[in-house]
Amino acid sequence: MANILAVGIATLDIINTVQQFPQEDAEVRALSQHQSRGGNATNTLSILSQLGHHCAWAGVLIDEPDSIVIKQDLAKHHINISNCSVLKYGKMPTSYITLNQQTGSRTIVHHRDCPEFDFAQFKQIDLQHYDWLHFEGRNISETCMMVKYYKQQYPQLPCSIEIEKPRDGIEQLFELADILLFSKHYAESKGFENATAFLESLSINVTASCAWGELGAWLKTADKQIIHSPAFSPKQLIDTLGAGDTFNAGMIHSFLSNHNEQQAINYACQLAGHKCGHPGLTLSQLEFN
Ligand code: FRU
Repeated sequence: MANILAVGIATLDIINTVQQFPQEDAEVRALSQHQSRGGNATNTLSILSQLGHHCAWAGVLIDEPDSIVIKQDLAKHHINISNCSVLKYGKMPTSYITLNQQTGSRTIVHHRDCPEFDFAQFKQIDLQHYDWLHFEGRNISETCMMVKYYKQQYPQLPCSIEIEKPRDGIEQLFELADILLFSKHYAESKGFENATAFLESLSINVTASCAWGELGAWLKTADKQIIHSPAFSPKQLIDTLGAGDTFNAGMIHSFLSNHNEQQAINYACQLAGHKCGHPGLTLSQLEFN
């Protein structure tokens, strides 16, 4: 099993499950409410850890009551936090999530008042024992410096970069990655109506996937072939929160297991599809092998 470091965020997710998505200005009762740790990088790590990998997170933790739930969950998944920077003041990023019981859709209102993990902090990490690095495509100029710096020191160490949201200058990250993990949201924000057209528009020579919900996912191989996996939709959509992060974990796990690209995209779709039929991100509850 591999040693994996992910750079990105952890959040407090406050999840209200509702019978149906409310209309604007309505007042509705939640069927239930719970809190859990979220955040793309740490969601991906929690899945990778359950698949047997040794995982470490590099991000910002704030010493305030909401970090307790977050730290407990990271500890439960044996995710090492010794590379994190811990700040005395501020607030853990918080997502207020409306989970629609009928469709499994998750609508997120995110509040953030927390500094980003930066290059100076990244430089202090001893990277020699890692087999894979994963970055969220955020905090672009600092992340670019991190990837360029580490590639000089450890040119053989592969990295995946998640491109989920359009952000100024995010394209600079594209050619730095070994694997790019695009979201449907990103492709649509660039005016594309399907993953094939989007992947074909990329001029870089990097393996790139683009997940497209119930249509499955597409992948452009390093030699520019486009391959596809159908979605493995569950009988009932229960909870799509973290499905993209689960897909990314499936891709990373497959590449670390030396699967080929078709196997990787199939596995990632299976894992993400299975997740959507179950609440949360605990694999034993997902009964997935
Ligand atoms: C799901 C998620 C949530 C978090 C939000 C942050 O992908 O990571 O857990 O609140 O996205 O953008």
